[in-house]
Amino acid sequence: MKEEKSRKRKRFKHVKSQNQHKPTPSNNATQIHKEPEPENPSSRRSQSHPLSLTSGEEALNYFKEDPSLFDMYHSGYQEQMSHWPEQPVNIIINWLKDRSSLVVADFGCGDARLAKNVKNKVFSFDLVSKDPSVIACDMSNVFIIDHILVFLADTLDASSVDVAVFCLSLMGTNFPSYLQEAHRVLKPNGWLLIAEVKSRFDPNTGGADPNKFSKAVTDLGFASMLKDFSNKMFILLYFRKKEKQSSKRKEIEWPELKPCLYKRR
Ligand SMILES: C[S@@+](CC[C@H](N)C(=O)[O-])C[C@H]1O[C@@H](n2cnc3c(N)ncnc32)[C@H](O)[C@@H]1O
Repeated sequence: MKEEKSRKRKRFKHVKSQNQHKPTPSNNATQIHKEPEPENPSSRRSQSHPLSLTSGEEALNYFKEDPSLFDMYHSGYQEQMSHWPEQPVNIIINWLKDRSSLVVADFGCGDARLAKNVKNKVFSFDLVSKDPSVIACDMSNVFIIDHILVFLADTLDASSVDVAVFCLSLMGTNFPSYLQEAHRVLKPNGWLLIAEVKSRFDPNTGGADPNKFSKAVTDLGFASMLKDFSNKMFILLYFRKKEKQSSKRKEIEWPELKPCLYKRR
């Protein structure tokens, strides 16, 4: 409660959708996440995959320095995704169709496809804003912009959204801090939807044990509702934030999430 108040007191200057926000990354993660090769493999910098090997904060600074690297990353990602028979974001869009009154936070929204295809109110967050609706920030600490006082941004209120979505966006060495932030902004009983590349959750090929991952998420304060492994390319995990949080703080054991490869089908 005290912590929340002090977060709310913070105000950030916001210039042209690039925030100056100082996130508070957690450090118990050891994940490395590999993204698709960017289109221009001749560029040494483009091969360093900031999203794979760094914290969200470092990736944010990297893209701020050269936003064209973000475009390069995205065109590579989209090219590979175009070969997938089904896009996980479409499944989430369909899931939201009958739940249009729910307020959504899309963590790592990319080009905000989710927000553009549902009636819900959606807060869209990504490292770089390519659309006025997208708030540029590191998702370990999400904020909103006052559209009247456009130079002011404020931390998104605790317990203010009904659904938090991570669609192929659990990357970065500090991914647990993203889930922690989702937990903060979700209302009690709010939904946490995670879509991730299947191979990252296949212990037979070095992926994380989905049960261990699920246990870590439940230790954070969620209840597991559904695990959908039916798709060949990705898995979908549905959780709900527990109404009552345990007063005991547990050390959470997060499994490693192996680098991700967006395979063609
Ligand atoms: C693979 S794309 C998926 C985009 C979108 N969710 C979709 O399904 O089409 C992952 C997105 O997560 C974003 N992302 C990764 N780490 C982030 C962070 N720490 N803060 C904000 N966005 C992040 C990337 O910039 C990228 O746009």
